[in-house]
Amino acid sequence: MHNVERHYNHGDLEQTILTALEREGKDIEQLSLDDLAPIDEFHIRGPEATREMAEEIGLAGGMQVLDVGSGLGGPSRRLASNYGCCVKGLDLTETYCRVAEALSVRLGLDHLVSYRTGNALDMPFEDMSFDVLWTQHTAMNIGAKAQLYTEMYRVLKPGGHLAIYDIIAGPGGRVYFPLPWARDPSISFLATDDELRHFLETAGFKILSWRDTTADGLAWFKAKSAQIKKLGKPILGYHILLGEDFPQMARNQLRNFNENRMALLQAIAKRPAN
Ligand SMILES: C[S@@+](CC[C@H](N)C(=O)[O-])C[C@H]1O[C@@H](n2cnc3c(N)ncnc32)[C@H](O)[C@@H]1O
Repeated sequence: MHNVERHYNHGDLEQTILTALEREGKDIEQLSLDDLAPIDEFHIRGPEATREMAEEIGLAGGMQVLDVGSGLGGPSRRLASNYGCCVKGLDLTETYCRVAEALSVRLGLDHLVSYRTGNALDMPFEDMSFDVLWTQHTAMNIGAKAQLYTEMYRVLKPGGHLAIYDIIAGPGGRVYFPLPWARDPSISFLATDDELRHFLETAGFKILSWRDTTADGLAWFKAKSAQIKKLGKPILGYHILLGEDFPQMARNQLRNFNENRMALLQAIAKRPAN
């Protein structure tokens, strides 16, 4: 098993999630996207960040979208449900793909979304297959970034958009571990702003927008922590995925942002039309 998959792998994840939902008083036969969002939108600012980026690229019905590092499928289901696009998810972690499939069936969205286990560095898709390439909080686990963005460019149709929501390296020095995507540096690869621009442009992309959303991320952490103080720890949350050291990961994440060791980036790039 790949070290990244070992980090995310979880024994009986589907049942653990369903049990947590039931303990929260949800009817697991009538689940909504928002019921699952505390766990299946596995990135800072959850559904808000997903909606914001979808609006920015102008997603529309019928578009073919590939979500690279699709996780438990929350973003892909939201894109399919809100905009009517067809979304394929690709993820290295097989358990996540299986759970993503099961949750999609439960939400009645399996006609629009599907998942495939595989590596973003060698995608099992034909050249120029997708209108949109979508990726959130995944490249942090991938060291071979030149290969990653070249591969993304290959499967994107000319004129198609690449939407990126990732954590990048800041000027403040090395990050503190453990973090939600890595307990140590062996599976953490943060590019700087300049490096990422270089990788994208070398792959052939034209950068259309580049936005530092760290302040929005920090405001979200503040709101989450106020909510926990008021209502106590939620039953359904990322701790289910990441285990007992999740609180330490969250604290490190906050410290790294506050000390400019890392930053949150939302960027849109385009594969020029022929
Ligand atoms: C923090 S999760 C984010 C999941 C999802 N994008 C979301 O925002 O809800 C990172 C995901 O990237 C996947 N991943 C990491 N490296 C990958 C690779 N080389 N190829 C495909 N998926 C990868 C992991 O398995 C994990 O599911």
